[in-house]
Amino acid sequence: MSTLITGGAGGLGVACANLIAARGMGVGLVDIDQERVAQAASDIASRTGSECVGIAADIADRNQLAGAWSHLESLVGTIDAVINCAGTFVSQALEDITPEDWEFALRTNLTGPFVTCQQAAAVWRQRAQPGSIVNISSTAATNAGFFEATSYGAAKAGLQGLSIHLAHKLGSAGIRVNCVAPGSFRSPMNSNRLSDPDEVARSIANIPLGRVAEVGEIAAAAVYLALDAAYVTGTILRADGGLLTSM
Ligand SMILES: NC(=O)c1ccc[n+]([C@@H]2O[C@H](COP(=O)([O-])OP(=O)(O)OC[C@H]3O[C@@H](n4cnc5c(N)ncnc54)[C@H](O)[C@@H]3O)[C@@H](O)[C@H]2O)c1
Repeated sequence: MSTLITGGAGGLGVACANLIAARGMGVGLVDIDQERVAQAASDIASRTGSECVGIAADIADRNQLAGAWSHLESLVGTIDAVINCAGTFVSQALEDITPEDWEFALRTNLTGPFVTCQQAAAVWRQRAQPGSIVNISSTAATNAGFFEATSYGAAKAGLQGLSIHLAHKLGSAGIRVNCVAPGSFRSPMNSNRLSDPDEVARSIANIPLGRVAEVGEIAAAAVYLALDAAYVTGTILRADGGLLTSM
């Protein structure tokens, strides 16, 4: 049994893959960036000794995703868990968002994870095989005060809604669907922003734990839901240092 991780070349994708590979389980990485996903998979495989393979695909493209799924299963074994890390942070003032910007934000942060969920559900239901999906949302889904992130926040709120609907629909097939809503953590997505001390101070001002997360802390929440939380479905797990307690 193996886990498919989308956005597998990114900060959170690699951190999740490291935790799962360290358990001796197979991992398939899918990312739009061919070079980085191949490198990430090879690093994880040599560090852990587990099977880890990286394939390039745009997860919002049904054919590319279906092809990557089959290819990965032929290399790392049957996929029974999916962690949807792929996403792109978009920060724009409302008046600056063009129709193309809006489409891009929804395509990468909502349509891609939806296509991956739909693929997983189709394969697992057809095989009568249980499975588990974790989608990665954001505090931006329910906290509008910090960033100019209308399109990103709307897409992530959609992803939370999608997770709840799918959990309800797929539970009878033994398929669990959950969501992690992280606050800021250090990764390539925000390395510029979090290298500025003023930005860090602003970021942590309303966080009761008084710091941004390490990526491994968010990965631990995602892997818990994906592999360990056998009776948990339809939940949105906030991993935000308590940020939303002040909202
Ligand atoms: N970093 C943070 O502070 C933070 C906070 C809250 C939520 N998140 C969410 O966590 C997830 C992981 O973020 P990260 O910080 O690891 O980002 P990251 O930029 O390091 O990784 C994201 C990866 O997704 C890939 N990707 C983007 N579009 C894709 C597509 N259509 N198909 C396949 N791959 C695609 C990118 O190439 C990249 O490797 C994202 O969904 C992000 O929105 C991040």
